[in-house]
Amino acid sequence: MKPKFFVQYPPPAGTVVEADQVDCKPLDQLTVAIIGYGTMGRAHALNLHRSGVRVVVGSREHSATGDRARSEGLPVLSVADAALAGDVVMLMLPDEAVAAVFADDIKPVLKPESIVGLAHGFAIAFDQIQWSGPCFMAAPKGQGDMLLDAFAAGGGVPGLLAVTDSSPPEIWDLAASYAKAVGCLVGGGFVTTFRQECISDQFGEQVVLCGGVIELVQAAFEIMVEGGYGEENAYFECVHELKLITDLLHRYGVEGMRQRISGTAAYGGLTRGRRVINEDVRQKMREILGEIESGQFAKEFLSMHNDPSQGTKALAEKEAASPLASAGRRVLPRLHPHGGSSS
Ligand SMILES: NC(=O)c1ccc[n+]([C@@H]2O[C@H](COP(=O)([O-])OP(=O)(O)OC[C@H]3O[C@@H](n4cnc5c(N)ncnc54)[C@H](OP(=O)(O)O)[C@@H]3O)[C@@H](O)[C@H]2O)c1
Repeated sequence: MKPKFFVQYPPPAGTVVEADQVDCKPLDQLTVAIIGYGTMGRAHALNLHRSGVRVVVGSREHSATGDRARSEGLPVLSVADAALAGDVVMLMLPDEAVAAVFADDIKPVLKPESIVGLAHGFAIAFDQIQWSGPCFMAAPKGQGDMLLDAFAAGGGVPGLLAVTDSSPPEIWDLAASYAKAVGCLVGGGFVTTFRQECISDQFGEQVVLCGGVIELVQAAFEIMVEGGYGEENAYFECVHELKLITDLLHRYGVEGMRQRISGTAAYGGLTRGRRVINEDVRQKMREILGEIESGQFAKEFLSMHNDPSQGTKALAEKEAASPLASAGRRVLPRLHPHGGSSS
């Protein structure tokens, strides 16, 4: 095989493929079946379509997102018919649904050469699907609507690439080509493994993005209110201004952020931050990493996510009744009087 985009096959972890080294030729003549038209499936489907790739969407009966795909001009088939029609079959399904949908509707119609694709490592890292044919991951490092908006504006996001050990070498080229067509090679395509991507993704979500930061904000808000400070005041300090700091961090890194804030804010943060995130908190982070690595979290999630009292919906409803959430419902219409959503 003539190497195309990488120097070495398989490329070692840490290899970065640049967008200008890659073209979309490996996708020529291929049909991509996008199974699931939720946030990420929609972004992949529309970006591929924009890149000139033939796309079909696979959707279950009476699916609201299937109707949306139809209304956005894409051909929509049943899950099995789309999987049959696709040379590349992208599983853009929720992590909790992928095992059953793959086993019941997709695997039975696949050909040995069918290429299975994923946008996240969970299904392979935690054995949700068994596929000995070609299989790759192109995981955008960004939320679906953000990927769609960035690509429409001529940009994109970086991506993480992985290929199963049993895949032929040219699937690396296909993965890179797919990532380019979908807009997730901007800033580079980083070679990794399904397990590394999944574990780091879940760790970041739990400890920082969707767990740690939210609880930090909740706790700080509650302490201010307990101390007699107004809820709106506490909301501005603990939630609203978070965006200003994360934007600086995102754009300029830690030292650039420190240079751009006031001296008081920099000194206060540098001397107090470690009292909040202390060794106890770090030890909790290690425990959480261990639960993810051992598969304990995946097992708990798959068995609990629909539980009527402790599942995701029940927990989110409880959170929505918190004083912080209710302060948000009062403050946000003032800050965004015209609404605004990228979806
Ligand atoms: N959301 C993001 O920004 C994001 C970011 C990074 C990675 N990802 C990854 O992208 C993948 C998809 O996630 P998502 O957030 O896009 O999911 P989502 O918004 O919840 O959408 C899921 C899609 O799957 C369909 N679906 C659900 N259960 C199904 C079933 N049993 N049979 C057939 N179709 C079914 C839904 O259709 P209905 O309308 O019929 O319910 C919907 O179109 C996951 O691997 C996720 O980890 C997502």
